[in-house]
Amino acid sequence: MASTAQNIFGPHGQALGALTEATREAIRRGQPGYTAQRGAAFLSFQARIASELLNHSVITANRYTAWFAQGKQNEAQIKAFVVQFSVFSNQFLIAQLNKTINADTLEGMRASKQILANELGVTFRKPGESRSTTGVRPTRFDPDHAGIEGSVQGGVFHFEAGHFEWLWTIAAHLGLGFGDIGHRRHGTPSTLYFCDELIRLYGGENYEISQAASYAVENWAAAGFWKQLIEGFKRYNGHHGTRIPAGFFVWHDRVEAQHARHTQEELEEYYFQTALNEDDFIRFGNEMLDAVGAFWAGLDAQRAALS
Ligand SMILES: [Fe+2]
Repeated sequence: MASTAQNIFGPHGQALGALTEATREAIRRGQPGYTAQRGAAFLSFQARIASELLNHSVITANRYTAWFAQGKQNEAQIKAFVVQFSVFSNQFLIAQLNKTINADTLEGMRASKQILANELGVTFRKPGESRSTTGVRPTRFDPDHAGIEGSVQGGVFHFEAGHFEWLWTIAAHLGLGFGDIGHRRHGTPSTLYFCDELIRLYGGENYEISQAASYAVENWAAAGFWKQLIEGFKRYNGHHGTRIPAGFFVWHDRVEAQHARHTQEELEEYYFQTALNEDDFIRFGNEMLDAVGAFWAGLDAQRAALS
């Protein structure tokens, strides 16, 4: 293996500097599974991911969220959006619970359980942080100040910190009743298709498929659509003189920014530790993104019908 303290090279002399420092160090140390050849293979796999998965139209050109950001929606359109998102939010819990159950390591199970617990209302807590600073104000829970770092370990549960309840506050502002949101019966066929695909792929028993779907979902979530939704709510409020709270979307945007940093590292770690089937990873990642695309396309058709 051609390596120096700073640089390592693949079998054909190609620089492997694009790998994370942790991986390069593992290659230098000759950790099992970590070879320069595997490093070079990962970099060509990553190039394939860029050109065959991350170029998916739901990541690069989401027509619905681009429209939403303009804030020109009427009341029926914004209500319809909140209803469909609430259905997704609840069905996501099922996918996340299945992902937790199907994890094949304790570490994986905890990573999934943490997301589930947080969705349900357990706030993140940084080590050493006092419980009074985890987003709780004396009179109410404020998602705009909920932490995005740390762990649910030692975190505090609040009903009001459940992500669904954040959506419920938006729905209530719009005059929707609790019985108008969140159930499967409120979902359009495309929303339900997306939710069912999440349960099948992201929450499925095949861990490799689950990892591919997870990677796809993370990259979609980090693609900037949360910002477009926040912008849309702000502008809608401006046009209508309303004060719809967008805390749900603001919190998710903040948390995604830091998730994005970890997603790449996780893929790299996974690649070196398993004999991942690259074609399957790209195929199932695309199946997941197709379902995400169906959700937004469904919203786009619905808003056209409600215009
Ligand atoms: Fe959430």
